[in-house]
Amino acid sequence: MKVPLLDLKAQYQKIRDEVWQAIQEVLESQRFILGPWVHELETWMAGYIGVPDAVGVASGTDALLLSLMALEIGPQDAVITTPFTFFATVGSIVRLGALPVFVDIDPKTFNLSPQALQTLIETRMEFDGNVLTYRGRKVRAIVPVHLFGQSAAMAPILEIAKTYHMAVIEDAAQAIGAEYQGKKVGSLGDFGAFSFFPSKNLGGYGDGGMITVRNSEMAERLRALRVHGAKQKYFHDWVGTNSRLDSIQAAVLLVKTRYLDTWNRQRAEVAARYHRLFQQTPLVEAGIVQLPEQSPDSTRHVWNQYTLRVRNRNELRSYLTEQGIGTAIYYPLSLHLQKCFADLGYQEGDFPEAEKAQQEVLSIPMYPELTEEQQVYVVQAIEQFYRLQGIV
Ligand SMILES: Cc1ncc(COP(=O)(O)O)c(C=O)c1O
Repeated sequence: MKVPLLDLKAQYQKIRDEVWQAIQEVLESQRFILGPWVHELETWMAGYIGVPDAVGVASGTDALLLSLMALEIGPQDAVITTPFTFFATVGSIVRLGALPVFVDIDPKTFNLSPQALQTLIETRMEFDGNVLTYRGRKVRAIVPVHLFGQSAAMAPILEIAKTYHMAVIEDAAQAIGAEYQGKKVGSLGDFGAFSFFPSKNLGGYGDGGMITVRNSEMAERLRALRVHGAKQKYFHDWVGTNSRLDSIQAAVLLVKTRYLDTWNRQRAEVAARYHRLFQQTPLVEAGIVQLPEQSPDSTRHVWNQYTLRVRNRNELRSYLTEQGIGTAIYYPLSLHLQKCFADLGYQEGDFPEAEKAQQEVLSIPMYPELTEEQQVYVVQAIEQFYRLQGIV
């Protein structure tokens, strides 16, 4: 049996006719740039997330970058985030010349730890009642990431942001539809940055992204920034960039919006089945495999990834590859240890939880169409590996 990490073909088979029709409509219209499909998707997104506005952009990376640009974050500023995330979260901060300041993660959720954040502010930063500073820079924003489809601990993060006058940009790239205390992620902070990369829960047929935004002035600014900073064509208020969601992607995504909640529910069923199947092995009890934990405030987890912590991770991964089972390591090297950020001065040992996670995590196959038979095969193969090793 072969069980890929993700099987996009299974989904495509089911929606092929609708998708072809949608693409054909765009081709017939020849309206490729910011056509009615983009507007319709933005309207859907604002309603779905529960915010007044949503702005389609070229990628999740640009959703982060343009949000930071709308706040006019630059070289005089610092932005707090997690080191255990996809590169784009931090890359976008650094591209604007701002200083990323890392905070370690909560080992249970892999998300930014609010306690570590509070400690960092109290011990390393200065607050004059108005502006928070760190190494001479203004700390302007926090970018929490809702990793693997589970919301970060937003209540304490928002409280801290309010106390120290920081904006909050939620990196919701992996978490469309996820909820925190009953509210959709992307509606909690000032901005929500979403990705439509094909592997996301709502994935296009190429790159795409969206920003959800609560403030109408910021929404207007974002709309300008994606067309070189011009509110009116050829009259530029800001230096923006070319970052538009294209019509073909929007048309495909509109078809998929009809299925998103069903797919997210199916992902939750797949996760529940993994939990049950793993509990039936000796692996969990023996502490060889740790299952992903859902925090009580994370009222809806959308399971973009099902990520275990495992013993002998790299050997297990090779064994699963031999058995035809796809896996991935998200992420093998925390961002504070990346070569391109060496000049930030971080060292090994600075963020022990992120560094422990990078050694232990293994994401196993997760997509709505995954069958029980496939899941049994995956769990049995993992158990078999530890039996062959003499560990159980
Ligand atoms: C956490 C996170 N942030 C940002 C991004 C960037 O999104 P994109 O690939 O659409 O640029 C991704 C996805 O790739 C992501 O997983």
